[in-house]
Amino acid sequence: MSLQHLLAIETSCDETAAAIVDRTGDADRPWAVRSSVVASQVAIHREWGGVVPELASRQHVRDICGVVERALADADLSWPAIDAMAVTQGPGLVGSLLVGVSFAKAAAWSLGRPLVAVHHLAGHIESIWLDHGRIPLPAVVLVVSGGHTNLYLIRREGEYVLLGRTRDDAAGEAYDKVAKLLGLGYPGGPIVDRLAAEGNARAIRWPGTRLTNPDRNHPERDGRFDFSFSGLKTAVLRHVRARQAALGQDRLPDAEVRDIAASFQHRVVETLVERTFAAARWHGARAVGVAGGVSANAHLRSEMAARGAAVELPVFIPRLSLSTDNAAMIAAAGLRQLARGRLAPPDLNADASLAL
Ligand code: KG4
Ligand code: ZN
Repeated sequence: MSLQHLLAIETSCDETAAAIVDRTGDADRPWAVRSSVVASQVAIHREWGGVVPELASRQHVRDICGVVERALADADLSWPAIDAMAVTQGPGLVGSLLVGVSFAKAAAWSLGRPLVAVHHLAGHIESIWLDHGRIPLPAVVLVVSGGHTNLYLIRREGEYVLLGRTRDDAAGEAYDKVAKLLGLGYPGGPIVDRLAAEGNARAIRWPGTRLTNPDRNHPERDGRFDFSFSGLKTAVLRHVRARQAALGQDRLPDAEVRDIAASFQHRVVETLVERTFAAARWHGARAVGVAGGVSANAHLRSEMAARGAAVELPVFIPRLSLSTDNAAMIAAAGLRQLARGRLAPPDLNADASLAL
């Protein structure tokens, strides 16, 4: 196939995104980002302290045409130059997903071009290959975002074996909830990241989280690679409430907020690094990858790199613009599927709880 330009659309949550990624013909660096546009809805949802699904889908409807036109203009291409399309089918908010899926189906049909349906997390995983080209395999990849904390084993490019996941809150969700209870605003992850850098990570010792381990011979099945963050979130909540009661006011001193943020982040990052490298060791991985919105976290990036250096395993993390939600990663995962001839059916529908 003489495919050159793939246009991808991502509307799974609160970012309307479109990107054009080219196939290069170079096996080591098969894809190149030609344009990538993200229209953020943060300002709309901030007022409510979290994403309001109905507001999100309405804003996608308003933004989608302009975002796609901008992606075409930035790439210096017009519609007929597009050889194929990809769209996020799920998981996510169904009303949001439907905007992207409907738009992509209509555009692909009217252009007479193939359409591929992409899993949002496959997009996050492929952002690593998009940014770094081929990496050594097998690789263990941590996908850590607002909705997911999953570990995958990649033995062959484009094949994802789930090794573990969070049993309750996703790591990004824990960041957002802790930020909210500290009165820091939305989205919490980047704010906690910034404040934590100035706090004392050892100021507070949180109680440990133990996951039950019924079958020690099969750690990948018995939950050794699973995560849990709701206990930590509750511990932070109790601590903050106790301090508020002791001080007789809701607002804690800034220095104390920074210490809570740093201590919380220390525990989250420690857990993510430990589990990821335990899985890598168990599976004889030759590389570790980290993707998803929380992979933008400065402390997580540096701790992953430090551990990788200590155990001589290369660590691959996409650049910040490819860490948080974007459509270039969906294009990469789409190109991977297109190469295998996996096209979306004409009756493609959004799937809010699509599994990977
Ligand atoms: O992948 P993403 O953009 O959207 C989902 O698929 O969920 O991830 C968003 C999540 C949010 O929870 C946000 O707070 C978190 O990623 N996040 C961060 C940072 N930047 C974004 N968490 C910690 N530190 C950051 N710098
Ligand atoms: Zn995401």
